[in-house]
Amino acid sequence: MAHSATVTKAVVPVAGLGTRFLPATKATPKVMLPVVDKPAIQYVVEEAVSAGLRDVVLITGDNQSSIADHFSRATDLEAQLEARGNQRALADVRAPAELASVSMVRQDAPRGLGHAVLCAADQVGDEPFAVMLGDDLIDARDDLLTRMIQARQRYGGSIIALMEVPPDQVSAYGCAAFKPTDEADVVAITDLVEKPDPSEAPSNWIIIGRYICDPAIFDVLRETPAGRGGEIQLTDGLRTLAVADRDTVPVGGGVHGVLFRGRRYDTGNKQDFLRTTVEFACARPDLAEDFVPWLREFLDKLR
Ligand code: UTP
Repeated sequence: MAHSATVTKAVVPVAGLGTRFLPATKATPKVMLPVVDKPAIQYVVEEAVSAGLRDVVLITGDNQSSIADHFSRATDLEAQLEARGNQRALADVRAPAELASVSMVRQDAPRGLGHAVLCAADQVGDEPFAVMLGDDLIDARDDLLTRMIQARQRYGGSIIALMEVPPDQVSAYGCAAFKPTDEADVVAITDLVEKPDPSEAPSNWIIIGRYICDPAIFDVLRETPAGRGGEIQLTDGLRTLAVADRDTVPVGGGVHGVLFRGRRYDTGNKQDFLRTTVEFACARPDLAEDFVPWLREFLDKLR
């Protein structure tokens, strides 16, 4: 059955404290840290736009006006660049403001990802919507979000993205139990477990930072108590939707998973942030010519 409501909005929660990056995140939001020369949040908004989502709702916290500034016109800077005839820089400065319609909703305190998503209820209304975490960058060549939107059109309900990790890493993530569908790499979710003990993990497929949520998630999140870390967890809300469907109670149309085998870059911790920066630099034609030989030489010296 085709599900007609199309996905047009992306909710991007950025209100976390970014404690793993202090002191850099004392006065600068984590998603404004640059990966090469663009803040991480710009890659995420570009990904939303490539999947056809031009309406982006950022869930923000304290000290985050620089995010709004980044997606707005910068009249003085533009005038100065224009006066200098620096068209290239001018285009770079204008691009984020012209990408999408970006609005902000404030989360009063970082009470968890589920609570952050709930803050978007009025903006989203009664439509399915994407949730995109600014910590996770998905390679532009790998088109994950489009596959998830297509899965929503086919199966309805909510869609999560799953990635396979070595079994000893499962305990750091939300983990999914699932059964196959008729379609390759699309599964029906039967349970979700947050940070399981490896011996009890139902699979080694973890939940990554892209979701398509049915609007039924809002009512569920309103009722979801604080879970791990005293925070209202999106995983717990999605689990309610998945398990309700398993027990054939028609709440929100159940949850499906898209198995992702592409390139995901974590920028939420220092190790992965550094790796991401190096990988992105090596993939940039304008930088790689000088950067890659330098990197080789540098690694040789480390031996
Ligand atoms: P994280 O836990 O990875 O981000 O949440 P954090 O809390 O900022 O980072 P650390 O752990 O303190 O270093 C995943 C995403 O959800 C957002 C975060 O901003 C991040 O993009 N988030 C989390 C919210 O918007 N609100 C919350 O209450 C919690």
